[in-house]
Amino acid sequence: MSSYDVIVIGAGPGGYVSAIRCAQLGLKTACVEARETLGGTCLNVGCIPSKALLHATHSLHEAEHNFATMGLKGAAPSVDWDQMQAYKGDVVGQNTGGIEFLFKKNKIDWLKGFGTIEAPGKVKVGDTTYEAKNIIIATGSEPSTLPGVDVDNDKGIIVDSTGALSLKKKPKKMIVIGAGVIGLELGSVYARLGAEVEVVEFLDHITPGMDKDLQKQLQKLLKKQGLNFTMGAAVQSAEVKGNKAKLTYKLRKDDSEHTIDADVVLVATGRRPFTDKLGLEALGVEMSPRGQIKTDNQWRTNVPGIYAIGDVIDGPMLAHKAEDEGMAAAEVIAGKHGHVNYDVIPGVIYTHPEVSSVGLTEDAAKEAGYDVKVGKFSFMGNARAKAVFAGDGFVKMIADKKTDRVLGCHIIGPAAGDLIHEICVAMEFGASAEDIALTCHAHPTYSEAVREAALACGSGAIHM
Ligand code: FAD
Ligand code: NAI
Repeated sequence: MSSYDVIVIGAGPGGYVSAIRCAQLGLKTACVEARETLGGTCLNVGCIPSKALLHATHSLHEAEHNFATMGLKGAAPSVDWDQMQAYKGDVVGQNTGGIEFLFKKNKIDWLKGFGTIEAPGKVKVGDTTYEAKNIIIATGSEPSTLPGVDVDNDKGIIVDSTGALSLKKKPKKMIVIGAGVIGLELGSVYARLGAEVEVVEFLDHITPGMDKDLQKQLQKLLKKQGLNFTMGAAVQSAEVKGNKAKLTYKLRKDDSEHTIDADVVLVATGRRPFTDKLGLEALGVEMSPRGQIKTDNQWRTNVPGIYAIGDVIDGPMLAHKAEDEGMAAAEVIAGKHGHVNYDVIPGVIYTHPEVSSVGLTEDAAKEAGYDVKVGKFSFMGNARAKAVFAGDGFVKMIADKKTDRVLGCHIIGPAAGDLIHEICVAMEFGASAEDIALTCHAHPTYSEAVREAALACGSGAIHM
């Protein structure tokens, strides 16, 4: 029987990063993965393929809408869907292959197959049982189901995100259930490809948890890009009739029932932790009512020697959160100090414009009892943004009126997903808005808008 210091179950961003860090810390490490390629949801059917399609379709949008204005004349490109899918597949392949290379480099054994924990310290994969001093569960998540709506990705009519990333052809009409991150990113992809996209959302606002000003601005801009929204709608059922799907929903305000048809219905109503057939019940691993594995602040479950990280535990279901927990749990197992600052985990939506967020929203800061000041700066006042047709967004910085400490920042605009990290670093160092305002920012860059928002928290922005 092979024995290891650590066996990680699941090779998503949580699991593979954890395995690499364990190996780097001198621990004999194996990682169990049931998929044919490493990288988990994120690399195979999540972050990476969705960003490839967003990039390709954004390029099309630029060619159709902005090229002529810049003097780049000629017919807009036509879409070869099979080639776009092949490009996406190639990007995924390069990334999953990269993890396989890193496993070999770090001498991590990939135990191919589905893992079950037979007992503390014993993981069964296929017919073989392996021993491990420590087990890290990193089995991730899967799409939530919706009563009355049966997903069949093979048929390609009612699909989840995995099906929506690999449709056989571009739909003419798509219904997206859920105005969350997946719905808006993949809805944008198909709207840019010319589909009529109808987003049906249960709540009265999009992207729950996001700062209200950003919710409003993002919905306004997506509407301009052709996405339609039906808000406050409770989906009753979806059925397939021939090559089409029929969706029935009730409006919550008056209980009226409505039916709409589409070529494709995308169900994007959240994800749930995946722990099926791991054997947790028999082991007595404590779970939360929402199906997450309960851990302490060192990622230990209640069963000695068993840890859990990533989407399968509490917190935002984000690749970088899983990675950070993966590294920290490895450090803990190696007898070092593992730390994740859950107050400074950025979130990004890769629509156009991008949206990013870190720390407290204005409402959350007020609810937490802070006397809040808000510094806002529009990208209309940013020279670089105007040059690339990206003046529509803004930076909104939240600071504590008493101490000037930055409590959060919310950005909708060009490169928002990169700009937010200046704020993450600032928050990690406990910076004030003035610290950011006094930092020289290169001109012309989008980052000047972040500095201007910081200035707006104090003596005032210059270009407003
Ligand atoms: P996962 O990535 O889900 O990996 C778990 C792995 O464990 C899987 O490969 C699974 O096959 C394997 N597994 C499960 N059980 C077993 C078992 N018993 N034995 C062997 N193997 C097992 N997040 C971002 O931060 N940025 C984004 O842009 C982003 N885009 C996304 C787009 C889409 C369409 C989706 C669906 C998700 C996106 N996410 C994004 C979320 C991100 O993918 C997840 O938060 C992240 O993958 C979680 O990592 P994880 O390691 O916890 O689990
Ligand atoms: P989500 O939680 O972001 O959004 C789900 C949406 O569906 C919510 O607006 C919710 O109100 C709505 N909803 C729920 N039930 C409904 C119903 N019955 N009818 C109509 N609407 C309903 O979940 P989503 O978009 O599925 O994403 C899952 C996870 O994947 C998220 O937690 C996210 O963090 C992660 N992800 C992250 C990305 C990123 O970081 N860029 C990209 C894609 C996914």
